[in-house]
Parts: sequence; C-alpha cells; structure tokens
Amino acid sequence: MHSSFPARRMRRLRAHDAVRSLVSEHHLAARDLIYPIFILPGTGQREAVPSMPGVERRSLDIWLQEIETLLALGITIIAPFPVTPAELKTDCASEAFNPQGLIQTAVREIKQRFPQMVIMTDVALDPFTSHGQDGLINHAGYVMNDESVAVLQKQALSHAQAGADIVAPSDMMDGRVGAIREVLEAQGFTNTCIMAYSAKYASAYYGPFRDAVGSAGNIKGGNKKTYQMDPANSNEAIHEIAMDIDEGADMVMVKPGMPYLDIVRRCKQELNVPTFAYQVSGEYAMHQAAFANGWLNEEAVILESLLAFKRAGADGILTYFAPQAARLLQQLG
Ligand code: PBG
Repeated sequence: MHSSFPARRMRRLRAHDAVRSLVSEHHLAARDLIYPIFILPGTGQREAVPSMPGVERRSLDIWLQEIETLLALGITIIAPFPVTPAELKTDCASEAFNPQGLIQTAVREIKQRFPQMVIMTDVALDPFTSHGQDGLINHAGYVMNDESVAVLQKQALSHAQAGADIVAPSDMMDGRVGAIREVLEAQGFTNTCIMAYSAKYASAYYGPFRDAVGSAGNIKGGNKKTYQMDPANSNEAIHEIAMDIDEGADMVMVKPGMPYLDIVRRCKQELNVPTFAYQVSGEYAMHQAAFANGWLNEEAVILESLLAFKRAGADGILTYFAPQAARLLQQLG
C-alpha cells in the first residue's frame, strides 16, 4: 500500500533556522580566511586597483594602522605581495632576497608590532624580474628550473629570517619545495611552515593581480604555460601535490579556486592533507562587476562563494573578500 505522504520529508529539517543550523554540514569562519594584501613602497601611499574594485595598494605605514582592525575581525593570517618599482627589477631578480626589501621590511615591522598576526609570504620571482616570469630565463626566453630554484631558496630564507611564519612558493619550479625545506632546516628555521602552491594552473584569471603588482604588461613570452599547469589536467594536480608533501610541504594550495573546486575535492579526499584554495583576482573581479551592476546580491554571494570552498574540502581560503566576509560573519553572529 502506498502511503499518502512522502516517505521522507526533506523539508522538515529546513523549516526553522535553528534546526537548519543544527544539521548544517559546513561552516565558514573568519579563521578560515587568509587575506592577500598589496604593499607599496614609501609612506602615505594608497592607490586603487582599477580591475579590482575595493582593493587598494597601500604603503606599509597605512597597512600597519589597518592590522588592528583585521585582528578585531578575526583575520589572523595575511599574505603580503610587493609592488616593486621598475628600477628594482632585473634579469637576475636579486631584489627578491634583499634583506631590506619591501616584503622583508614589512614582515619585520608587522611581526614586531603584532606578533599574533601570522604572515605568509609569496616565494616567486615575478615581482622582481624585468621580464615578469616567475624564474630566471635563458637566451631563448625559457624559464630555467634549477637556476631559479637557487634564487627561490635565498628568497625563502630571507623571508624566514625576517620572521615570516609561512613561506608559500607560488612559482611552480620542480623541486623547489624540497630545496626550500632543506635550506630552512639547515639554517635552523625548523618551525617555518611551507604552504605550497602545488596545483597552480596557467590561468587567465590572474589578470587583475598582475595589474595590481605591475607585472602584467611585461610577461615575456606572454604566458606561464611551461611551468604552471594545464587547465585540462586533474591527475597531474594530485601528482604535483603528493610530490610537494613528500618534499616537505606542510599545507598545499589549489589555484584558482572556484573553477577548480574539483581539484580541491580530489586533493582532500585522496591525500587528506591540509588543503587551501585561492579565490584569485579574476574571481574577485567577476564578482565585483556583477555586484556593481546589481546583478548579484553582494553579501549573500560572497558568503556562498566562500562556503563552497569549505564544502569542497578546503581547510581555508585566500580571498580579497576576507575583511568584508569577516564583517558579515560577525554581523550574523
Ligand atoms: C605570482 C603570483 C600570482 C598570483 C599569486 N602569486 C600571479 C601569477 O602567477 O601570474 C595570482 C593571484 C591572483 O590572481 O589573485 N607568482
């Protein structure tokens, strides 16, 4: 005999706010967020980034004033990126490991004033090369692997010496995680974490970031396909991630974010390691464009977009929305 009611009413658990939250499977919190910031040289400087509405490049003194607010919002991890003046960019990227460089100085000053703020630095050469590639190039314009890794080691060490808590190689050279781990161990930085940008794709979604740090116009060769991954591949991402873990990475990252949630999922499911995703500049820009046009509800969509990462298996998310999302979460209680 057929019952006169549905065998199972899924809507029962959706009828009340409190019951919905009782059975909700994933949660987003400010502590899940890592906030990427762009640092300008000098003092008293702030500039809008046209392709990233709401994002500003700011000099260190202005960021230092901002950090208290970030901490009050529950944002305890920042990822600073330098805006390097053209005259400091060279073919050998030596500014990358200058102990008095913008990032090294920022790390020292921020850690001195706010030791509780965790700092994750980007290890890659693109802000410092005149040609905009993440490594050193040969006469044919090819990015040389081992020569680049040697510079990345120096760069990572200079960040650790300045006080960085986490170094994050985003360059995609082979063997860089192992090489960085080796130099950190040898120099006594046994507690410096490595967050490896392991599955970093050769993506067109990075355009606005390259505007922000001023590396856009000059990428010699036009793209980074000889080292960043082919968007067609998924098994290769698992291979990359497994190798980085093996070489000594503590945490791994998938990048970009939303278009690559399948990779986040596979990473978490197959390797069970601390997994992060980067909601990159192009994703941020797309959202802002829709918000500005009134096409999407800003507050609801920001939180939904970030919760999606948690559901896919990410432990945390790098996002330019971090302060706004934290404020929204605070309002929701
Ligand atoms: C540089 C780097 C990039 C991003 C983070 N680190 C750009 C690139 O690889 O060209 C992109 C971040 C974003 O788009 O938000 N190694």
